[in-house]
Amino acid sequence: MPHIVTAAELPVAELLIRAEQWRTRLQANPAPPVQPRAALIALLFYEPSTRTRAAFEQACVLLGCHPLVITAEASSIVKGESLQDTVRTLCAQGVRGIVIRHPQAGAPVAAVQVADAPILNAGDGAHEHPTQALLDLYTLWRRYGMPDPTTRWLAGRKVAIVGDIRHSRVARSNLTLLTQAGAEVWLCAPPTLLPDAPLPHATHTHDTDAAIRDADVVMALRLQTERMAQGLLPSLNAYRRDYQINAERLRLAKPDCVVMHPGPIQRGVEIDDAVADGAQSLILEQVRNGVSVRVAALEYALGEW
Ligand code: CP
Repeated sequence: MPHIVTAAELPVAELLIRAEQWRTRLQANPAPPVQPRAALIALLFYEPSTRTRAAFEQACVLLGCHPLVITAEASSIVKGESLQDTVRTLCAQGVRGIVIRHPQAGAPVAAVQVADAPILNAGDGAHEHPTQALLDLYTLWRRYGMPDPTTRWLAGRKVAIVGDIRHSRVARSNLTLLTQAGAEVWLCAPPTLLPDAPLPHATHTHDTDAAIRDADVVMALRLQTERMAQGLLPSLNAYRRDYQINAERLRLAKPDCVVMHPGPIQRGVEIDDAVADGAQSLILEQVRNGVSVRVAALEYALGEW
């Protein structure tokens, strides 16, 4: 059964091509005819989400499935039911797939151990967010003219990921896919927001100018204050001064550098308005691409290609 737990296990080239087919189909008709089927997909969200949840809900509808959204506050989770018992319960009711977002790293792996339906990781703690990394890669792949996705098509490109690397599942999943495609990846954060142990195949720095200089891609990350121990970030003003992606700092990058952000954005903190809404920004393009990528990912997990 093809679960999606980490970015490393994704059949990336096939998913990029499949996502592009869906994008083309949705551009021609945003509400294409759908063959309804009696298939429930559970969307088990133990943490808030806008983009990922909405995209997976749309993916379910586009595939003729019914999304069954379950949030932590409105389920038996609040009565003490474990994740694994919740997964067993949903499988006993015949769901065809389970999308899980969870604050604990490793939760999707625990779910896989008891599930008889595919598990799709929609973000687990600071561990992985594979479909976010896939949609980020897809956005860059389109930007660079859809080269052969089986090659190292990002070779010679520098990607600077700037922000709260320590708590970022997006950074970890992106690092896997970006380096697989040949990119040189720089991870930039204040020393307290870098990981305890360096992540593989990346340059780590707390010098934002060095990270951004000559970059082809700058990806800003949100400060995840909900996951931060006290004292990790002594001053928000100092963070803005040293790490915010703004027009002045962006001038250090290549002239055709693009700016990305997985969202949600904290405007005026990790990125300023002029950059977030500027001509170099791919942020809304990332959101749009999130739908076709989730349709492709769900089709893959359902064993339909
Ligand atoms: N990027 C992302 O995961 O956004 P949401 O939390 O809104 O799903």
